Amino acid sequence: MIYKKNKLILDGFDVVYLGKKYKTPLYCYSLKKIKDNIQKLKTNFKKINPLICYAVKANANLSILKEIKNNNLGADVVSIGELIRAIKAGIKPKKIVFSGVGKTSAEIEYAITKNILLINAESKSEILEIERIAKLKNKIVNIGIRLNPNTDAKTLSQISTGKKENKFGIDQKVFLQLVNYSKRSKYLNLKCLSVHIGSQILSHKPYQDMLRVVEKVVKRSDHKFEYVDLGGGMGINYDNNNNKLDLKKYSKKIEEFLKKNDCKIIFEPGRSIVGNSAILITKIIYIKEGTKKDFIILDAAMNDLIRPALYGAYHRIIPTKKTKKITNKIYEFVGPICESTDTFTTVKKYQKLNEKDFLVICDVGAYGTSLASNYNLRPKPIEILIKGSKIQIIKKRQKISELM
Ligand code: LLP
Repeated sequence: MIYKKNKLILDGFDVVYLGKKYKTPLYCYSLKKIKDNIQKLKTNFKKINPLICYAVKANANLSILKEIKNNNLGADVVSIGELIRAIKAGIKPKKIVFSGVGKTSAEIEYAITKNILLINAESKSEILEIERIAKLKNKIVNIGIRLNPNTDAKTLSQISTGKKENKFGIDQKVFLQLVNYSKRSKYLNLKCLSVHIGSQILSHKPYQDMLRVVEKVVKRSDHKFEYVDLGGGMGINYDNNNNKLDLKKYSKKIEEFLKKNDCKIIFEPGRSIVGNSAILITKIIYIKEGTKKDFIILDAAMNDLIRPALYGAYHRIIPTKKTKKITNKIYEFVGPICESTDTFTTVKKYQKLNEKDFLVICDVGAYGTSLASNYNLRPKPIEILIKGSKIQIIKKRQKISELM
């Protein structure tokens, strides 16, 4: 995104033009950005040659999934819905891993029928359930077991998953018992150790700690894991400063691990592939002047983008037309929903805004639309994808009639 003659341009398109043509709130994705992000991962982890399984939960739009498939990625799914969608997008079952702490019998059965690469189990009960269904079907099922490495990902507490107080994964002691159990089973083929310590991780250090634990557990288990699935979590830069995860350093640590452990690495990145690929274009409905600050009331709300309300997450909001008139007022950007948490961010210094102006909420490609809802009976927004010089509508705006 750049300003040309003070107008905000995304991949050659004037953002105001897009807002007027498709109406707001409008999610707009850049295919170029998605491809660049995938390429960046492939380049930085070239020496590791991982199987990259895109975490569908970050953005499950079918057209986006098809593009991801066209770039030869696999998928990490966490529900039968995501699994069906990934297969529909053309992703080969042999490149799909299934994660999650509460897979139902129906979900396990479906995954077994589809012969996916791995079901990553997260409890003893789940392993027994997979074994029971495998026996019924007289099939040998490839599984992974998710280790809880008790590693602090040093990210938002709400999106941290690798500490012992989190519900995810299995602690070392039980993990080792389950390895022994699975090895003896006629219906289970234990192929993978998986971990995922959290999301929006910006330092390689937590990953380094995690790898140390993984290495220790692999050694203790005395089992040849064909795969080690390191999960996702690679953070992106929401602040426009230079604080970003050093992928090269992370790669180096994995290379050291691979020297001692011969296995194939799997990644499950979501945010790092789609996070910065989209903007949410919104229009100012009203400006409500307050005593301490002015409320900039947008037509986008927490039902369209819940990250700020849910995690206190920060998304930059930038003008679509730059002017030099700076206001000395404090602006709070809010949505129209009847909740005090329906607020995006507050700024102290900003250019003077007017009602009907278009604004852009940045970096909303991951966990934007996938967490969107119909709260307050608001229809879900339209989504478009810029593909070179073309624009594809990849999700129509929901009609009010569909909600009735
Ligand atoms: N693998 C597993 C097992 C996961 O639980 C997740 C994310 C991922 C991979 C992908 O992580 P990523 O590469 O996208 O960081 N809604 C929150 C993020 C929740 C992440 C849940 N798990 C947010 O908006 O920040």
